[in-house]
Amino acid sequence: MLKKKYSCVKVDQQKDGITWVTFNRPEKRNAMSPTFHAEMMEIMTLLETDSDTKLVILTGEGVSYSAGQDLKEYFRETDGKPEVKAKASADSRWRSEKLWMYSKPTISMVNGFCIGGAFTHCICADFSVASDDAIFCLSEVNWGILPGGMVSKMVTDLFRQRDAMFYACTGRTFTGKEAANMGMVNYSVPKKNLRKETLKLAKELLEKNPNVLRATKHAIRATQDMSWRAAADYLNAKGAEIKIRDAARGHDAYAEGIRQFIDEKAYRPVFSPYVGAADGKTTEKGGKPRASAARKKKTPAKKKK
Ligand code: COA
Repeated sequence: MLKKKYSCVKVDQQKDGITWVTFNRPEKRNAMSPTFHAEMMEIMTLLETDSDTKLVILTGEGVSYSAGQDLKEYFRETDGKPEVKAKASADSRWRSEKLWMYSKPTISMVNGFCIGGAFTHCICADFSVASDDAIFCLSEVNWGILPGGMVSKMVTDLFRQRDAMFYACTGRTFTGKEAANMGMVNYSVPKKNLRKETLKLAKELLEKNPNVLRATKHAIRATQDMSWRAAADYLNAKGAEIKIRDAARGHDAYAEGIRQFIDEKAYRPVFSPYVGAADGKTTEKGGKPRASAARKKKTPAKKKK
């Protein structure tokens, strides 16, 4: 449990393992200053190994998710101060390297403005849900820089080429609904449902085996730029990693998942995870037997001749 209070970020840890990390500079539309980045780097590092946190949701206080880098504090005030600039830049990697391969699931919940450098953590979170009316913008072209810090690369990987070029070069805004159509976020919902829908996704993820989820999300990330052969080896190794991590909690996801489906007929993998996937605590018999188990019981045994 994190006890420390931060000046630019609020951390709210719920009992169910969901931790809300809320950017808290609403008067500056949650623009990211060097202090903000230093706090976020510390928070995300601590939460990654904090046993009370199973999943992290990132969002913004007020009308904005994040207005990108703080033009005054991150850019102008660090000019001519290479060490300060380098520190701010290193701390800002919580949004990219750290989030990209984070060991716990992350969701960005885009509640309003998502501008420039904010694209990085919106995209690098594993999942993203936006309000229909959120406003996205690559504003860099309008104030005199290119979308750096890997933003150009990320939108090129994610968007259709035409959309990437269009929005980067015009700086036109697009809504949460349009962001969903372009694949920038998973889906958008009316603002009044944003929290509820984000929590629904978070709770669904928390029902899964965390070791399987972690290996799966790393596999989706890491294989993107691997050769076929390297990806095959990586995926084999990730499968073995699940076994090792599960063994450490006295569990075997693979054997349990098959046993509960084939022998106990306790669940259907198409509709839900096996019983005990989340905490590794399985009962002798899985859950409520599924219909085919009940049918089997009803079939009278054949009489011996
Ligand atoms: N950097 C520094 N300060 C910022 C900021 C940013 N990226 N975004 C907003 N702010 C500050 C404003 O300067 C203003 O501060 P002030 O009260 O001291 O004057 C305050 O936040 C509120 O901004 P304002 O423009 O009055 O709010 P708005 O709701 O009318 O508009 C935006 C919101 C996000 C559309 C507008 O602030 C904007 O265009 N911001 C720039 C975003 C940007 O280009 N970011 C890219 C960085 S890579």
